[in-house]
Amino acid sequence: SSSKILIKGGTVVNAHHLEVADVYVEDGIIAAVKPNIKVGDDVTVLDAAGKFVMPGGIDPHTHLAMEFMGTVTIDDFFSGQAAALAGGTTMHIDFVIPVNGSLSAGFETYLGKAKRSCMDYGFHMAITKWDETVSREMEIMVKEKGINSFKFFLAYKGSLMINDELLLEGFKKCKSLGALAMVHAENGDAVFEGQKRMIELGITGPEGHALSRPPVLEGEATARAIRLAGFVNTPLYIVHVMSIDAMEEIAEARKSGQRVIGEPVASGLVLDDSGLWDPDFATAAKFVMSPPIRAPGHGKALQAGLSTGILQLVGTDHCAFNSTQKAFGIDDFRKIPNGVNGVEERMHLVWDTMVESGQISVTDYVRLTSTECARIFNIYPRKGAILPGSDADIIILNPNSSFEISATSHHSRLDTNVFEGRRGKGKVEVTIAGGRVVWENGQLKVVPGSGNYVEMPPFGYLFDGIEKADAKYLSSLQAPVKRFKATT
Ligand code: URP
Ligand code: ZN
Ligand code: ZN
Ligand code: ZN
Repeated sequence: SSSKILIKGGTVVNAHHLEVADVYVEDGIIAAVKPNIKVGDDVTVLDAAGKFVMPGGIDPHTHLAMEFMGTVTIDDFFSGQAAALAGGTTMHIDFVIPVNGSLSAGFETYLGKAKRSCMDYGFHMAITKWDETVSREMEIMVKEKGINSFKFFLAYKGSLMINDELLLEGFKKCKSLGALAMVHAENGDAVFEGQKRMIELGITGPEGHALSRPPVLEGEATARAIRLAGFVNTPLYIVHVMSIDAMEEIAEARKSGQRVIGEPVASGLVLDDSGLWDPDFATAAKFVMSPPIRAPGHGKALQAGLSTGILQLVGTDHCAFNSTQKAFGIDDFRKIPNGVNGVEERMHLVWDTMVESGQISVTDYVRLTSTECARIFNIYPRKGAILPGSDADIIILNPNSSFEISATSHHSRLDTNVFEGRRGKGKVEVTIAGGRVVWENGQLKVVPGSGNYVEMPPFGYLFDGIEKADAKYLSSLQAPVKRFKATT
């Protein structure tokens, strides 16, 4: 690794622009982007002729070192990030889970977990209950701790789930702070009913997971969250969109002018639920995540959603559990820890399924895997761009090389891989993170502690601007009533 790097002769791709140019990096920052940069011999030169030089991926959705369903994810910040870097992702945003209901304790705990980070990271925060303290702590998180997004769970009844009353309180608080509300959209009460039904029918295997929480429950919760966000006039981000049902609600809302963002994840885009019916428990259990991986057809539709602008960015929901952990649910699918991998595979899978197939352009690829995430979470153009002054988080992708995914060769600690055996075109050959070459020639050179916490500033709504928008929204609610009166 060197503090000065010249990437020569590649096609430099930004979401807005593509050109053949050199990229010069000094002290962790992109210093210049232009053709024929001349440098001295103290500079590491990387030849990128015939290859694409792009912003490193930003994964908006990971769970590293998370305690969940009676266990803890097998990838911690160091192993999960090393895997990410090997796959061309140079930043991720993880979810802080409050500790004993305390947001600040949760925040400090996660900063501790992230101490050995080898790439940059940011945090969303989960809101799992509501009272005056939570409300006050949300304000501290936004104003002092660099968190600008909060996730509310409509599923996981009995643990993370909150009801509509608390959801509305949370939405209003997000709006007043200039923070983005995020929702896990499945109807948790109905999932509970669906699970009881499966057990009564004697269906205890992994297929019961999908059967107990069908797409209609994701569609219902998505529609409800969107309508309630509209009711208090705050923007909404739907995490892990897995079904056509949910996507159609997002499309409708966006068409009517509501600010709704949809995030599909790698597993939902490229897999279908056939694996869940595998007679071998371990094989089937590795596909268990929530919302479930859906029947064939949903993934293709989600890809189309991305290519047409209904959905805005791709995450992973990387939440890895080993087969011994998945085996907690050998007699009862309700005890299988929910989650699949993806942080290492996302960049390759999106390239192969969407760019290689001609569904999206190379500039679209950069937007969907990096730039849009940086914009949404207010860290662009520090992240998500190859521009002078941006952080030197860069990948070199060879479109003529190929990848193959296997648990035997991946860098995650996971002993399985939900994408096992997949191969495709396009290979991330070099990853530069924070100005260091961390992945080259199939070798990882990661340094614990080299990653930094990236503070995400709140969105700059003017308070009277919010009030004006609210007034306009309220009068639009009354308009149909007035028309009805006028015609009777
Ligand atoms: O199955 C999943 N998605 N596990 C991670 C937690 C969540 O809901 O994102
Ligand atoms: Zn240019
Ligand atoms: Zn979730
Ligand atoms: Zn998640």
